[in-house]
Amino acid sequence: MKYICLKCGLKEEVTTKKAKCDCGGLWKLDWKAPKFDLSLVDRDTWSIFRYRAFMPLIGESWRQISLGEGMTPVIQFNEDVLLKMDYFMPTLSFKDRGAAALIAHCKSIGVDSVVQDSSGNAGNSVAAYCAKAGIDCEIFVPEGTSLKKIDMIKSHHAKVNVVPGTRDHCANICRSKIDECGNYYASHVYNPFFYEGTKTYIYEVYEQLHRIPSNIFIPLGNGTLFIGVIKALEELIESNLITKMPNIIAVQSEYCDPFAKAVVTGKMNPVEVIPKLTMAEGIAIGMPMRGEEILEYIYKYDIEIITAPENRIIEARKALSTKGIYCEHTTAATYAAYLKYCDLNGKTSDSLLPMCGAGLKSDH
Ligand SMILES: Cc1ncc(COP(=O)(O)O)c(C=O)c1O
Ligand SMILES: [Zn+2]
Repeated sequence: MKYICLKCGLKEEVTTKKAKCDCGGLWKLDWKAPKFDLSLVDRDTWSIFRYRAFMPLIGESWRQISLGEGMTPVIQFNEDVLLKMDYFMPTLSFKDRGAAALIAHCKSIGVDSVVQDSSGNAGNSVAAYCAKAGIDCEIFVPEGTSLKKIDMIKSHHAKVNVVPGTRDHCANICRSKIDECGNYYASHVYNPFFYEGTKTYIYEVYEQLHRIPSNIFIPLGNGTLFIGVIKALEELIESNLITKMPNIIAVQSEYCDPFAKAVVTGKMNPVEVIPKLTMAEGIAIGMPMRGEEILEYIYKYDIEIITAPENRIIEARKALSTKGIYCEHTTAATYAAYLKYCDLNGKTSDSLLPMCGAGLKSDH
């Protein structure tokens, strides 16, 4: 199996330890999933790996690293809103979908130590799966990251470096460490295997509901859920299981909106922004590395972008928690954005929102 460089088209075996191509381009997988078919789902496997027929796994390492991720329910929150409860995961966020696939890949190609940078949740996930796989792990997080996320990462015996400055700066510091030491970069943003895990979000929705809801809201920072969702929907269309793309609405923070800004002027690259401090820490990404790829999807599928109003995040979190849903602030921002979308466009029925992170993870 091969990677292909998004910039120059060079091909490289996926066993490579190089985080990206020598030309600076990021990798994508030169691989196509077979037609999606529910009869190929392994119903005896209670994790995302029940969909392994549609995932590019090498060997059987997934058996050793799985923590029972995925299989999260879709619940009817009110007459218009369905919630997919992705914080019901081993490390309490949706990132376990991607990390399980990524660390299974690392294990299968003999990686024994990794580094990664994260706003916290992806670091939690990578640390937990590395712990299960017996892989050494070092995580870089920006200052201001919730202490609960840092404690969780440490509990998995990973080393944590708290870097002063923004999330983007933290990523730069982590990448310079890789340039110096040559460690494997288990990045949820760079590594294409991560997206093969987040695809399962849509596979599950389809298996559970036997259809895809009309409106799909997705938080958009670096786009790990966003890209996985689009890829899986494309697969369902190619497999003639759905006839068209649903209406996709991407949610950015009002205080950090590089895609929303790009779309206003029809740009093909995200507009670089310096994030202002926001409660939606998980989507505060000023320089998303897969920006061009994400914008291509946004234009291709006419994807709307809405910004989450900062002053309605607490109220949205309360509206959820008083109905039994205790999510983290970044996740409440998706609901705040949904409410704003309804104010602007009227009642929006049959809307699916992901509950990405658990409330116990965020302070404020
Ligand atoms: C709770 C939560 N929601 C949404 C996101 C956004 O994911 P991405 O940056 O991959 O778009 C994150 C990322 O860390 C997160 O932690
Ligand atoms: Zn290249």
